[in-house]
Parts: sequence; C-alpha cells; structure tokens
Amino acid sequence: MTGSAFGGEVSEFYQRFRRGYPAAVGDALTAAFTLTRDDVVLDLGCGTGQLTRVLAPRVGAVLGMDPEPAMLDQARKAGSPPNVSWLLGADSDVGALTPALGPRRLGAVTVAQALHWMDHATLFAAARPLLRPRGGVAVVTNGEPLWLQDAAWSAALREVVSSYLGTPLHRTCGTDETSQSRYADALSSAGYSVDSLVVSYDAPLNVEEIVGGVFSAMSPAQLPAIEARTAFTQRVREALSPFGPLREQVRVRVLTGTR
Ligand SMILES: C[S@@+](CC[C@H](N)C(=O)[O-])C[C@H]1O[C@@H](n2cnc3c(N)ncnc32)[C@H](O)[C@@H]1O
Repeated sequence: MTGSAFGGEVSEFYQRFRRGYPAAVGDALTAAFTLTRDDVVLDLGCGTGQLTRVLAPRVGAVLGMDPEPAMLDQARKAGSPPNVSWLLGADSDVGALTPALGPRRLGAVTVAQALHWMDHATLFAAARPLLRPRGGVAVVTNGEPLWLQDAAWSAALREVVSSYLGTPLHRTCGTDETSQSRYADALSSAGYSVDSLVVSYDAPLNVEEIVGGVFSAMSPAQLPAIEARTAFTQRVREALSPFGPLREQVRVRVLTGTR
C-alpha cells in the first residue's frame, strides 16, 4: 500500500481546501465515454472524493478507491451520494475487482491528480479488460500546484514554501507537458484511442485557502507544528500582500483513452 503522504491531518487539509472539479469536467467525461445511468465508474486514487462526487449524478454507481484510509474517512465524513462506495485499494488492486464485477464491465476508470503515484503502464493494461466497448481511462489533473503557477503571487509563495522546506520546489505532480505526453503515449501503446481537452476557469483565492492548499500537499512529517502555523500563515500573508486580491487561473486537463 502507498498513500501515507496523505495520512492524518493532511487528509483534513485535503478535504477542506482542495478544489473540486467543475461540472464541465463531468460533462466532458460523460461525453467521451458515453456514460449513462447504466454505468459503473471506478475513480482510482479518489482521495476525499473530489471527482467521485462530480461523476455520481451522471452514472449508476461510482467506486471511489484509494489506499489511504484517512482520505476515505474524510470522504465518508464529507457525505456520500447514495450511489458511491468507498473502497480501500491501490492501482495494483484493480485486477482484483474482476470477480466482484462478474460479467459487468466498467464505463470508465478515472484517475484524478493521482497517476504520478501509480505504475501507469501496468494500470492501463490491467484496466482494459474491465472496460466495456467505448468505455475508457481518463487521466485528469486539477491545475498547477499553487506555488508553481505563472503569476507573481505564486513565485512569492514558492519562496516562502521552499525556504520553509529547505529545498527548491519543482515537482509538478504529472501536470507538466512531459508527463502528459508520457501518459498519452502509454495509453496509445496499451491500445486506447487517445484524446485530450482542457477546462479552464478563474477563481478567487485567499491566504487561508492558499496555506490550507499548501498544507494539503505536504506529507504529515513536513507540516509545521501546530504552534508554528500562525507564524507560517503570517509569512505567506506578508509575502503575498503586494499582489492585491488574488485569483487563480485553473486549467483542468483531461486525457482520455477510449477502448
Ligand atoms: C493528490 S490526491 C488526489 C485526490 C483526488 N482524486 C483529487 O482529484 O483531488 C492523490 C491520491 O492518490 C492516492 N494514491 C497514492 N498512491 C496510490 C496508488 N498506488 N493507487 C491508488 N491511489 C493512490 C493517495 O492516497 C491520494 O488520496
């Protein structure tokens, strides 16, 4: 099992501060795989259910699967639509769903902001026999990390966070072009027909949301001690104060591989 990076308090920050996905992303996935109320979808690496909840009203059932119990606990606490089941499991467990599915096939396997934790080539191959014709795999990313965006406030945030962690920050969690083309090539090699689209929107951000978002991306060991969090927040507030009301341009990327 993996996923300990999302244990404990990090799962709470994740549930509270990570953005969900706009309805347009659910619509795009519905259109790409012609999803209907007859379909079951697996949302792998579901975390606290950001994409799971967008899919639920569009299909018959969603299986939200994640190897981190704390993330699933937060997902349950946040409230589940009646057609969602939360399952403990990782990418390597996907093949084990076969007996539970019986003759039934999945409409889609979605992996949102989580593929960089998985063995993607093995997963794409393992998912194929579980999918119905015209169903497929979707790789979704939820914008750039807050500290790596093309904006002056983001550069200032990067300085604060990298000085706190004592290391430069460059990890992109699969949102960069190189990772995206690697995933597209791997989908194609596994026999899927590949397409992509972007859903963009603009949203306001405040300092509390930025600090919560940063904490949601740290491992439990990296989080500042509780008594040091006010000072951390103050450093972020001061660093971002020259930039006025903050806004984030969110680019959700959706890469689809259809069977
Ligand atoms: C950044 S969160 C994404 C959560 C949610 N899907 C979203 O879009 O916000 C990544 C999730 O992947 C999960 N994860 C890590 N390793 C995994 C693996 N090998 N298989 C499946 N999920 C994994 C983590 O536990 C975590 O909940």
